[in-house]
Amino acid sequence: MWLLPPLLLLLIPGSSDLSAVIMGPGEASGPERGSLTVQCRYDPGWEPYLKYWCQGAEFRNCRILVGTTGSEQEVKEDRVSIRDNQTSRMFTVTMENLTREDADTYWCGIERIGADPNVQVKVAVGPGSSGVIMGPEEARGPERGSLTVQCRYDRGWETHVKFWCRGAEFRKCTILVGTTGSEQQVKKDRVSIRDNQKRRTFTVTMEKLRQEDADTYWCGFEKNESNPGVPVRVTVDPATTVLTTIPTTFTVPVTTEVPTSSPTVSSLHPEGRALLSSVHFLLLVFLKLPVFLSMLGAVLWVNRPQGGSEGGGPPRSENQ
Ligand SMILES: *[C@@H]1O[C@H](CO)[C@@H](O)[C@H](O)[C@H]1NC(C)=O
Ligand SMILES: *[C@@H]1O[C@H](CO)[C@@H](O)[C@H](O)[C@H]1NC(C)=O
Ligand SMILES: *[C@@H]1O[C@H](CO)[C@@H](O)[C@H](O)[C@H]1NC(C)=O
Repeated sequence: MWLLPPLLLLLIPGSSDLSAVIMGPGEASGPERGSLTVQCRYDPGWEPYLKYWCQGAEFRNCRILVGTTGSEQEVKEDRVSIRDNQTSRMFTVTMENLTREDADTYWCGIERIGADPNVQVKVAVGPGSSGVIMGPEEARGPERGSLTVQCRYDRGWETHVKFWCRGAEFRKCTILVGTTGSEQQVKKDRVSIRDNQKRRTFTVTMEKLRQEDADTYWCGFEKNESNPGVPVRVTVDPATTVLTTIPTTFTVPVTTEVPTSSPTVSSLHPEGRALLSSVHFLLLVFLKLPVFLSMLGAVLWVNRPQGGSEGGGPPRSENQ
């Protein structure tokens, strides 16, 4: 319905010059806690004018959230930023950390004396909107253990590149690993990513977690201005004992006191026992036997005949 009036104005020549000045996407959407980007284009001649982003059902009463200074410099207010590109005659609005309350009617506007040229943009927030990516709010893992994050995405984004990015701000985050647009797993250092295009989910695994890995991360699409991302807070639980970290990655029978670095013992059961008994054998040969031999040696050394020294042997033997 709301698309109709501007269209009609465009179709009826000379009805109004305002609607032709500025063009917007009509609607935009992003996931809760994620971000969205809106690009509004304008006609030649409007480059040096101030552009703004305004919220409210009616343009007359809308509240300006952010505006340019007439230059190409980015201006940011709270979670909303605006940047004009006077070469491409387009300005870009980014809204970050979206909440349900952000769903509303907005306007791209250009300030001038008299009625401002404007165009309406309906903003939707939440799952089910298009071009969207969804992830868990939080992911935790134990120190030295691993964690897995699954992010879902909408139909149509299957063959796009997905990535895992670190940093408080989405636009400035550092990409740690990204897919190639296929389902092949990509691994970099301690982080891997794999896309499942049938289920429209991709899985990120972080291994050998450290305390300093705790941060804000993002599931995102092929990184450019208009692609969405969703934040995931990563927490690393300190490892109190070695045993608490083991069950998250593989299961080791509690009764067998094996070192952490032997998952083979639990996975290969019959051979595992053989391995354990050979460990005992090796212990016998390399630890118990030398200890026994050195004790024997010490006893022999103490009991050896000693010339003038006192208390060499037991007093009884001297008395005889
Ligand atoms: C403006 O848009 C042009 C053409 O798309 C691009 O080459 C240029 O880098 C953009 N400028 C800024 C500041 O982003
Ligand atoms: C997003 O907003 C929530 C609540 O307003 C806040 O607690 C959180 O820290 C924000 N996250 C980011 C990444 O700005
Ligand atoms: C951003 O990425 C989307 C999807 O990958 C693509 O359609 C769009 O052309 C890209 N925009 C720019 C400015 O590269």
